[in-house]
Amino acid sequence: MRDDIVKSIRNYLEMERESGVSEYLFSSKPKDVRLSLAQSAAAMCQKCPLGRMRKNSVFGAGNINAKLMFVGEAPGHDEDLQGLPFVGEAGQLLTKIIEAMGIKREDVYICNILKCRPPQNRNPLPDEISMCIDYLYTQIEMIRPKVICGLGKFASQTLLKTETPISRLRGGWHEYRGIKFMPTYHPAYLLRNPGDKKLVWEDMKKIMKEL
Ligand code: URA
Repeated sequence: MRDDIVKSIRNYLEMERESGVSEYLFSSKPKDVRLSLAQSAAAMCQKCPLGRMRKNSVFGAGNINAKLMFVGEAPGHDEDLQGLPFVGEAGQLLTKIIEAMGIKREDVYICNILKCRPPQNRNPLPDEISMCIDYLYTQIEMIRPKVICGLGKFASQTLLKTETPISRLRGGWHEYRGIKFMPTYHPAYLLRNPGDKKLVWEDMKKIMKEL
């Protein structure tokens, strides 16, 4: 019985491929579907205690065919309320940076290491990161951007599996699973240290050149 079902699905897919809709079936649709499934799972997730504290999970937003993906740390107060990443003060600065690069915010993809807000915006805990990280791995695998920009220490150290300080990581190219990875300072850090905006701009120029 199971073999019959598998066989008929295989025949159906074969037929679709021959009739020229393979691109829709094998790239676009599964990507949408897998991202939507992961987003629904994150919205119901209770793998760590942050699940009970959130108003909304914040999965990610933007173009799922983006060449550039930004990965931040975790939602803050505004993001938790709206269910969208980087919509508070740091988010407004990130939008300015993206626009200064000559790109529209809706053309990139933006997400975080954690999908739920830690209380009082404290740093993510190692256990929270390890329970949440599969959502991000799915996002990266589905979107496969040309460049990932790690915003701040948590995104960069987690994805690069290193404890090297962000001040030493930033500004140089790294690699995450065959994807070019540029660590830079987090926009919230820039709000406290505006003098370092020029360093972030140097990093963005390297990304623009790569794109
Ligand atoms: N800071 C982050 O790291 N992510 C957000 O979504 C907002 C602020």
